[in-house]
Amino acid sequence: MTTDSDYLIRSETIRIHTEEDFAGMRRAGRLAADCLDMLIPHVVPGVKTSYLDDLARQFVMDRGALPACVFYRGYQHTVCISPNHVVCHGIPSEKTLREGDIVNIDVTVIVDGWHGDTSRMYEVGEVAPKSKRLVDVTYEALRLGLEQIKPGNTFGDIAAAIQRYAEAQRCSVVRDFCGHGLGRVFHDNPNVLHFGRAGSGPKLQKGMFFTVEPMINLGRPEVKVLNDGWTAVTRDKLLTAQCEHSCGVTDDGVEIFTASATGQFRPQNS
Ligand code: MF3
Ligand code: CO
Ligand code: CO
Repeated sequence: MTTDSDYLIRSETIRIHTEEDFAGMRRAGRLAADCLDMLIPHVVPGVKTSYLDDLARQFVMDRGALPACVFYRGYQHTVCISPNHVVCHGIPSEKTLREGDIVNIDVTVIVDGWHGDTSRMYEVGEVAPKSKRLVDVTYEALRLGLEQIKPGNTFGDIAAAIQRYAEAQRCSVVRDFCGHGLGRVFHDNPNVLHFGRAGSGPKLQKGMFFTVEPMINLGRPEVKVLNDGWTAVTRDKLLTAQCEHSCGVTDDGVEIFTASATGQFRPQNS
């Protein structure tokens, strides 16, 4: 038997969701994507990252949703903002973005109990060709990973597609963070790795919901977490990039819940 509160704990197995659950994820995913769309014109040289966080929180709350990261394991912000060599979990602060930065903004919202989790890369003013190339490689790695999603394929097929492409482009895949199941639970089973062997791992089944969120480095894959307990950076201080979608396995493929309604998943790049 399943009671309401059972939804709130990480499940032992990979949860299979219903059509109605897809509808819930569509609403949450759409709002998360709208939030990242809204930020596009604000990601400019000189902007404080805390201001972008304020805008995101207002946007989410004005629409009757909750920012999932506020109070999540002691985190206090709506978004993570991770520039340049920050791999993920960058904390919004009084620091400003600068011309030439590439920056990931990651938001998770809760709509009627469902989680929508997505992140993109933003270019701050004009950026260098090598930064642009890393962003290109990261989006393509995510796209190739998502392309593997259909019933019968495995989580390893997603991972292998991402790793094969990123490494062929002489980039590396971060090992220390992974995607995750989500739904009524923010970080649920399974861990979705972005490196590994094709055919390994659990089989994908219709109704599974999870994120794919590769972190790709220009240099070596090693990361370290700073003393604030959150900010993860590349050990070699070289550039890193990430993008993330929340998705569900359908009868014959994938539904991307966090696709941009206005086709702006790749700001400044499309
Ligand atoms: N949104 C992140 C993810 O993709 C999680 C951020 S947790 C936070 O899973 F507390 F750092 F916000
Ligand atoms: Co995530
Ligand atoms: Co996220």
